[in-house]
Order: sequence, then C-alpha cells, then structure tokens
Amino acid sequence: MTLRNRSLTAINDFTISQWNDILEIAQKIKTQGVANVDRTLGNTLVATLFFEPSTRTRLSFEAAALRLGAQTLGFTDAAATSVAKGESLEDTIRMVAGYSDAIVIRHPESGSAARAHAVSTVPIINAGDGANEHPTQTLLDLFSIKETQGRLDNLTIGFAGDLRYGRAAHSLMKAVAKYGNNTLRLIAPKQIETPKELLSYFDENNTGYTQSSDLLEATQDLDILYLSRIQKERFDSNADYEAVKNVYCFGEPHMAVTKDNFRLLHAFPRVNEIDTALDTHPKSYYFEQAANGVPLRMALLHSILA
Ligand code: CP
Repeated sequence: MTLRNRSLTAINDFTISQWNDILEIAQKIKTQGVANVDRTLGNTLVATLFFEPSTRTRLSFEAAALRLGAQTLGFTDAAATSVAKGESLEDTIRMVAGYSDAIVIRHPESGSAARAHAVSTVPIINAGDGANEHPTQTLLDLFSIKETQGRLDNLTIGFAGDLRYGRAAHSLMKAVAKYGNNTLRLIAPKQIETPKELLSYFDENNTGYTQSSDLLEATQDLDILYLSRIQKERFDSNADYEAVKNVYCFGEPHMAVTKDNFRLLHAFPRVNEIDTALDTHPKSYYFEQAANGVPLRMALLHSILA
C-alpha cells in the first residue's frame, strides 16, 4: 500500500513491510549521496512546528526537505506564535495545514501528533510527542542497526537509561519487537523502568525480554546497546531526577566486555551517559546513527509527498 499522503504519528501507523521499504529507499539515497538525488519535491512546502527544543530532528528534516527540492517554514519557539495568546494546538494545525503540504511536529504532550492528525488536511509527521513516541527516530535507528548487523531479526538488543520517559526507546522497542526472534534486555533502575503496557506489547508479539539494573552484566551478550538520556524535563520533581540522573555512564570497562559485532547507539542529546573517550571507538556508532537521519528522512518525505 502506498504511503502517499499518509501521516506517521506512531511507529505502528506503518507496517513492517512499509518500514523496510523506507529503509531500502534510504539505503539507495545514502549510496547515491544525499546531494546527488533527484529533487522530487519541487513546489512542495514542509512545515516544521517545534514546540520543544531540537537539534537533530528539526535540522535533519529541514536538510532532507531542502535536499529533495522542497522548501520549509515553521517555528522553533511557540512563545513567538499565537499559542502564546491561547490558540489551541488544533487551530494552529488547521492554519498551518492551509499553508503547507506536510507538517512535522514536536510537542511536549503525549498524543499531540494524533490530535494534530485528527484535524489536519495534510500529512502529520510526529517528531516526538512527550514521553510517548518518536517514530522517525526509530526508522533511522532501524536503518543503523541493519547497517551494523546486516539484519533486524535474531538480535539481542539492550535498552538502558530512562526507559520510562524515553520516547525514542519506546518507539524502537515497539519496532524491534515486530521482527523475528529478537531478545530485549531492559536495563534501568526501578523508578524509570519500562512501562507495563510495553511489557504486555512484548508478550503479545512473542518477544522475550529481561529486566535488570546492572549495566555491566547486561552488556556482555548484546549486539546493540541503545542508551537513553535521563529525560529531566519529564520528571515530576527535581528530587526524583537527581536520584537517577547519573545512574549509567558507559565507559571502557563496559566496552571491554562486549562482543566483536557490538555497536553502541544513542539518539542524542547525551549528557553523561557515555564516556567521551569512547567517541572514536570502532564500536561507537552514534555519530553515524545521527547522520543517517538525513537519508532516512529524505526517504520518508519522498514516500509521503513525491
Ligand atoms: N534525537 C533527537 O530527537 O534529537 P533532538 O532532540 O536534537 O531532535
């Protein structure tokens, strides 16, 4: 089924076959070089509405749109829009849908992308809604896992850090649970462990998982470790955040016990989850992962809009 004019508010809005199609297009774009592809989106306007800060997602979406010949409009500070006068999310979306061909939205509230989709006449792409989901990050994460492991099934994948509020981790967990025979190692202290609904989802999808809090021990049999920043902005109190803020820092002792094919991923921004001495380690793949955001988002925009 074509993705033309489809919204992506949650990773499961698309099927596994559609994820694979997007990864394949992204691979072709990466191989060809992002500067060399046809400008299939001339005369197209992509709006980027960022109600929360972003570096990678907004700039890689804008780079992707511009590389495809589209133009962009939008805001990075809702306080400078009529939201500051009390305008609702729904009315903001209705207006911008009249000015553009697709809307990329990041918003602090879970479910905001689905709300936007409900009133929009153009496709909505979720660039992160609260602690809920970050589906385009997941597509580039899948791309990076496939690039490093050669497959998306039969893997042991660790998720460590803020598994309660980390939306990038949530969407990726949902995706990898759909591929065959993956095992998840969920590594977090009690306060920020994986939500129960996700554990039920793993059961429904016959995906095995373990839960623990010992990062060093859990690292040893992993193919991939997906580290997550502790999401300070989502905690109820500063005291709760302070209690877990330095829970994990992946360093040389951790890297020393990893398998040969192991790769370390992080959606970024990072605070202190990774010893920067590992930045040039051949198993650290997080900078390549971030760069994959451009070909992947080009593939997505092309699929939806071309
Ligand atoms: N990975 C990611 O969402 O980064 P930004 O918050 O910088 O967009």
